[in-house]
Amino acid sequence: MLTKAAVLFDQPGKWEVAEVELEPPQQDELLVRMVAGGMCHSDDHIATGDLPIPAQGLPIAGGHEGAGVVEEVGPNTPGWKVGDHVVLSFLSTCGLCRWCASGMQNLCDNGARVLAGVRADGTRRMSLDGRPIGQAAGVSAFSQYATVSVQSAVRCPSDVPLELAALTSCGVPTGWGAAVRSADVRPGDVVIVVGVGGIGMNAVQGAAHAGATVVIAVDPVEYKRDAARTFGATHAVAEMAQATEIARGFTNGQGADACIICVGMTTPEQVAAGVDAIRKAGTCVLVGMGKAADDVAIPVSVRHIVLYQKRIQGSLFGASNPSRDIPALLELYRQGRLKLDELVTTRYTLDDINKGYEDMRTGSNIRGIIVHDH
Ligand SMILES: NC(=O)c1ccc[n+]([C@@H]2O[C@H](COP(=O)([O-])OP(=O)(O)OC[C@H]3O[C@@H](n4cnc5c(N)ncnc54)[C@H](O)[C@@H]3O)[C@@H](O)[C@H]2O)c1
Ligand SMILES: [Zn+2]
Ligand SMILES: [Zn+2]
Repeated sequence: MLTKAAVLFDQPGKWEVAEVELEPPQQDELLVRMVAGGMCHSDDHIATGDLPIPAQGLPIAGGHEGAGVVEEVGPNTPGWKVGDHVVLSFLSTCGLCRWCASGMQNLCDNGARVLAGVRADGTRRMSLDGRPIGQAAGVSAFSQYATVSVQSAVRCPSDVPLELAALTSCGVPTGWGAAVRSADVRPGDVVIVVGVGGIGMNAVQGAAHAGATVVIAVDPVEYKRDAARTFGATHAVAEMAQATEIARGFTNGQGADACIICVGMTTPEQVAAGVDAIRKAGTCVLVGMGKAADDVAIPVSVRHIVLYQKRIQGSLFGASNPSRDIPALLELYRQGRLKLDELVTTRYTLDDINKGYEDMRTGSNIRGIIVHDH
């Protein structure tokens, strides 16, 4: 079948909306009518080339934060039927590898293929004029329809709006889990969240959920600082230095229990400031990515790390398990204990994708989403 999708032909490049050929579902695959695709910063990193993808991935249909309705089921897809609502996890999980077996599905060996967006056998499900096209995270949420592996599919209760459920593919578990799991926030903790966009806002709600008594949001954009207060931040400031001072003020000079860095472009200096802001044996969680070219050195003192026993902790998908945590987050939403509606600032058509990303860069959205027409 033909489907309209936002495709990136080169890195760096711009998203181009094209009609691409989509294969029907094979063994272990579902055809999904995509309802919405969240505009995560990571897709912008792919477009700018800051997140290089393997050559066999290009061209690639974008979007890894999506949800939709099952239109067709391939062979060997037990439990799935036409009409089921589905969240497409940006990390697919095999259920069998060492990581899946250890409750670390986010580190599943399938991750080796996530950036190229190809099947296990290297083939692709999309093509344009005979040229194979990869699917971002194997999901391609910026496509009206997508054929996906069942390993990417998580069941969604039919009473959760799919536009909102899409955010539990990436942004919500990534931010929420960064606080709840990677930082292991405990009741009474003092937590700094640096960068409160689509990911960081969920780190704020995760920290509040876990019982932090002080949650300090740092963002240069005033509107996001105001929004952060409605997601559970007790303080919101424009500069990291102010946050560090506030955290020290609450801890007799010791520093924050955790600092969670969710900025769009993480710099080595921001990591150093995060490490400086935490207490002895505190945790600085890195969620946001930086320029590939900056992957060199973080200016932190080895002596401080050792003598103060501080921890720098990377966090992928909030160290969460898609098959456990996506349903749990959807249930928290159903119970009114997790905000999703308030995360969506602007809805775009697929044709307006580049405008949506421009708005993300200028800071006017917490999360923009593409709502597909069919
Ligand atoms: N680790 C993971 O699993 C994972 C998953 C998804 C996204 N990400 C990454 O997380 C980062 C954030 O993604 P997003 O979608 O929330 O992006 P976003 O653009 O919505 O949010 C980034 C926020 O950082 C703020 N910011 C910019 N400079 C800042 C500074 N100097 N100090 C404080 N705040 C600053 C911006 O105003 C914005 O609110 C990106 O790098 C993205 O690629 C990581
Ligand atoms: Zn994402
Ligand atoms: Zn696995």
